[in-house]
Amino acid sequence: MAILPILVTPNPILRKKAAFVPMVDNAIKKLLNDMIETMDAEDGIGLAAPQVGVSKQVLIMNVPANMTVNGEEIEGLEPTPEFYQMINPEIIWASEGLASCEEGCLSVPGQYAAVLRPEKVRVRYLNENGTPCETDFSRLQAACVQHEMDHLAGKLFVDYLSVMKRDMLLRKAQRVGR
Ligand code: NI
Repeated sequence: MAILPILVTPNPILRKKAAFVPMVDNAIKKLLNDMIETMDAEDGIGLAAPQVGVSKQVLIMNVPANMTVNGEEIEGLEPTPEFYQMINPEIIWASEGLASCEEGCLSVPGQYAAVLRPEKVRVRYLNENGTPCETDFSRLQAACVQHEMDHLAGKLFVDYLSVMKRDMLLRKAQRVGR
């Protein structure tokens, strides 16, 4: 395992559409393990492969299922997994209801903004063993998986803001650098 350097805007790899993964082989498993170590080292809740310079449809996330988009915990929910590894994820259903969440990104350092997204989504993907899965996400997990999937499409959370605000946050992020 290795901690990988995280790319920061305006690196062009962050703006590329990531390639479909034809097979979950040992190289993909090693990439996943390195991404896990990198996410833990950075205290992130999600990480997409393009952020570590690999333009492939791979992401991980580690978010408590009972965490609301406002960061409040919901008591009494049945425990569900916090940790997911996904290859070739696609959203196959999204709720009409939207939720606003204050988002940040390791590739846009030091910048935060509220982003409005579907409150619930159903995602189809391959897990780390190459097994096809479908999982429903809500609350903070839904926001996180949509944010990470955007990375695979070359999109950053600031793209949801006005052009003026987006450019301001991108400029500030470049100044912060890493
Ligand atoms: Ni991000």
